[in-house]
Amino acid sequence: VRAAILPLGPDAYDRAARLLNAGELVALPTETVYGLAADARSDAAIASIYEVKGRPSFNPLITHLLDPSTAPSYARLSDTAERLIQSFWPGPLTLVLPRIESNLALRAFAGLDTIALRCPDTPWRNGLKAAGWNSPLVMPSANLSGHVSPTTADHVATDLGDLIDLIIDGGACQRGVESTVLRIDQDQTTLLRSGAIDEDRLRSVVPDLIDVDPEAPIASPGMLSRHYAPEAPLRLNARAAKAGETLIGFGPEYGSPNLSPSGDLQEAARNLYALLRRLDGSDVKLSIAPIPETGLGKAINDRLRRAARGR
Ligand code: TXA
Ligand code: MG
Repeated sequence: VRAAILPLGPDAYDRAARLLNAGELVALPTETVYGLAADARSDAAIASIYEVKGRPSFNPLITHLLDPSTAPSYARLSDTAERLIQSFWPGPLTLVLPRIESNLALRAFAGLDTIALRCPDTPWRNGLKAAGWNSPLVMPSANLSGHVSPTTADHVATDLGDLIDLIIDGGACQRGVESTVLRIDQDQTTLLRSGAIDEDRLRSVVPDLIDVDPEAPIASPGMLSRHYAPEAPLRLNARAAKAGETLIGFGPEYGSPNLSPSGDLQEAARNLYALLRRLDGSDVKLSIAPIPETGLGKAINDRLRRAARGR
């Protein structure tokens, strides 16, 4: 592969800062999944994200901040937004907010008058600052469009290793599913994508949180089912494998492969994409045991339903 794979540390940050300055792309680990980063001020750099991933241009990107305190330079923050930022940043929460004039490139927003902001919980925010890089990064998951998100540097190398120069290796991602995405309007807050934030904690900060209408995927253009689909057909809520199927278990009553032999949802989230990638193929059929619809189980089931529907 063309890409250098470097561990987190000053060498990697220097190299990343130089590439970003030159308008190039860099793959970075986050607490959720690996991201493909570009300078959020550069239309040309952002254009190459869409090109490299094969991402449809109507799907807007999340702007990642190195510093939570810079959010007011890019969006209008309501009281609810301020409260959420206080409670969850840095962390796996993305807020879709009314956008204000800034030095960011318009291409990141796919024509919308909103901006998706997140401040990830990761050591490279300070590392990049020390290397002289101080600007927001747009960062979709570092997979080819249509593949499941990468949770190791190896996954990134498989999808993009020949297309980019640098992958920073932070090991396996702690959370394993993407950030929770909320849209904040004047008087209501809508859950656009369930994700790595525990929903009970979220609802304790925003008691009147509204679930997005699942029949209206247009609210978040990137939530179309096929964006999360493996190649193999996938049967949900399976208690046993049918002939020719590989059953992915969850909990002690199931054998291997198993998302979490002890039935731990955090562990299951961490293993989900790696298992799907390992088992997927054009000549296999997959099924998966029931996952409880509680806590992180909601995000896992959301991904699985999309994966099952996508083919
Ligand atoms: O955990 C994550 O969020 C990862 C890591 C790398 O930070 N990133 C990620 O990005 O999952 P991506 O591009 O794969 O998903 C971003 C989602 C898409 O569903 C996109 O449509 C939605 O956020 N989005 C971005 N801007 C939006 C906006 N202005 N309005 C509504 N949805 C938006
Ligand atoms: Mg993605």
